[in-house]
Amino acid sequence: MEINKVLVVGAGVMGSGIVQVFAQSGYGVCMIDRSSDLIAKGMANVEKGLDKAIRKNAISVEDKQAALARVTATVDWGCASEADFVVEAVFEDMEVKKESFRRLDEVCRPEVILASNTSSLPITPMAAVTSRPDRFIGMHFFNPVPAMKLVEVIRGYLTSDETNRIVVELARKLGKTPVEVNDAPGFAMSRIFIVMINEAVYCLYEGVGTPQAVDEVMKLGAGHPMGPLEVADLLGLDIVLHIMDVLHAEFKDSKYRACPLLRKMVAAGELGRKTGRGFYSYEA
Ligand SMILES: NC(=O)c1ccc[n+]([C@@H]2O[C@H](COP(=O)([O-])OP(=O)(O)OC[C@H]3O[C@@H](n4cnc5c(N)ncnc54)[C@H](O)[C@@H]3O)[C@@H](O)[C@H]2O)c1
Repeated sequence: MEINKVLVVGAGVMGSGIVQVFAQSGYGVCMIDRSSDLIAKGMANVEKGLDKAIRKNAISVEDKQAALARVTATVDWGCASEADFVVEAVFEDMEVKKESFRRLDEVCRPEVILASNTSSLPITPMAAVTSRPDRFIGMHFFNPVPAMKLVEVIRGYLTSDETNRIVVELARKLGKTPVEVNDAPGFAMSRIFIVMINEAVYCLYEGVGTPQAVDEVMKLGAGHPMGPLEVADLLGLDIVLHIMDVLHAEFKDSKYRACPLLRKMVAAGELGRKTGRGFYSYEA
């Protein structure tokens, strides 16, 4: 089946980035969220992203207008019946995702592939609430979506070879580099990267070094462009904690225990850049 129209569910940070990338690549996109305010915020993000691409000379003003003309933003799930492909980017909560997929399974044509942009939740239980587990897959984009090359393509237990092939090809058409992995909590990226961040927080918690020292060793010693604590501030400490809790709950292995300092900082509202304070201060 040819993919022309894409439905993106969730107009947040990731949803709006995914919409931008599809629209820029020539696909018709319908973006849905729960309220007109959220839709408007999502569209403002898409426009901001396109303006950034203009400043980088990646697209022209005409390209921006053409991309925007391909996007419909609505609270109405009606456009789901016309979609050829679906990417879900709602909250990272298994029940919210399952509910969205039950609904999508009812309204989307049976041949349509449903993809989740989850960053840590297993794919197979989401696929199981639909009547098409063979046409269900993880398509994990990274933030900021227009800039990040990687798309982790995650096969659920029953994902077909054909579905996998279509999604790998689709990621390439978006200018991304797909990497194929199998279903497991956190897949490869979040499992390795978030656990590394958690370990960096443990270093701080146990007095091994200051935030600057912990970040410097990883930048200079491991060649990372940013230190793990700087990245945690950028992602949001609440997101890091949530992923650690998912890994711990799913694997039931103490090596995935979130550092108590991380938990305490989230409880105190020190979430990183978005609240002005995390491992570093951004208040100035
Ligand atoms: N933020 C990141 O760095 C990042 C990176 C990779 C993957 N992800 C994953 O992407 C997904 C979305 O994350 P985000 O950061 O964009 O979150 P977000 O909170 O910015 O956006 C989520 C959006 O989904 C909407 N939503 C929730 N329930 C809905 C429903 N039933 N129907 C329609 N819309 C609904 C919300 O209103 C919100 O606008 C999560 O699964 C997250 O784990 C996030």
